[in-house]
Amino acid sequence: MVQRGHKVYEGKAKIIYTTDNPDLLIQYFKDDATAFNAAKKGTIVDKGIMNNQISSKIFEFLSAQGIPTHFERRLNDRDMLVKKVEIVPIEMVVRNKAAGSLCRLLGLKEGMALLSPVLEFCYKCDSLGDPLINEYHIRALHLATDQEIETMKGFTFKINDLLKEFFAKLKLELVDFKLEFGRYKDKIILADEISPDTCRLWEIGTGKKLDKDRFRHDLGEIEEAYREVLSRVSR
Ligand code: TMP
Repeated sequence: MVQRGHKVYEGKAKIIYTTDNPDLLIQYFKDDATAFNAAKKGTIVDKGIMNNQISSKIFEFLSAQGIPTHFERRLNDRDMLVKKVEIVPIEMVVRNKAAGSLCRLLGLKEGMALLSPVLEFCYKCDSLGDPLINEYHIRALHLATDQEIETMKGFTFKINDLLKEFFAKLKLELVDFKLEFGRYKDKIILADEISPDTCRLWEIGTGKKLDKDRFRHDLGEIEEAYREVLSRVSR
C-alpha cells in the first residue's frame, strides 16, 4: 500500500502529493478545466477519473514501445503513482494539422494540412501565459541543456509517430498535442499526462472533436467526448 503524504504542488488540472517512497509521487487528477490561460474556468464531470485512465493506457503503450515515462501504475480512480521528476519548464507541442493557436498565429484555416509536423516550445510560466519560445531562448535562459533538448525532440517525434498510429487504429486523428518531460536520476523521461486535455483528437470520417476544444468553445457533449476517447483506448 502506498501512503499519501502532503501536497507539494497544485496545478490547474492535477495535484501532486508525496508518498512514503522519496522517489515516487501521487498525481491526483481533478475535474477542473481551464482554457485560454485560465481566463475560462469550469468543471468537466468525472474528467479526472477519465483522464487518469486514458493517460495510464497511453503511458503503458508508450513504455511498451521503449519510451521512458514517469508512469508506475494507476492506484485508483483519480490517483496515478509516478516517479518523482524535476519538470523541465518547456511544453513540447507537436502539430500534424493546423488548429488552435497556430491558426491564430499564422492566420491559417483550421484543419489545413501541414507538409511536415510542426514542433513548438512554450515556456511553462502561468503568469506569462506559457509564451512560445525557440531553442535560442532555451539556451540563453538555461531552461535545458542542448543534450536535453535533443533528447526531448527525439522522444517527441517518436511519440508523435507512435501515437498517430495508436489513435488512427481507434479511428481518431491526432491533430496536435503537448508533452512535458522531467529529469529523473540524470535521465530525461516523459512526465505529466496525455489525455483529451492535452491532445486534439478528431474522429476519422466525421471530423467530430473529441477533446477539450468542446469545453474551450462551448460545443456541448464534453463529458461524452472524453468518455468516447476512454472507451476507444480501453478496447
Ligand atoms: P494550442 O493550439 O492552444 O497552442 O494547443 C496545442 C496543443 O497543446 C493542444 O492539443 C492542447 C495542448 N495544450 C495543453 O495541453 N496545455 C496548454 O496549456 C495549451 C495552451 C495547449
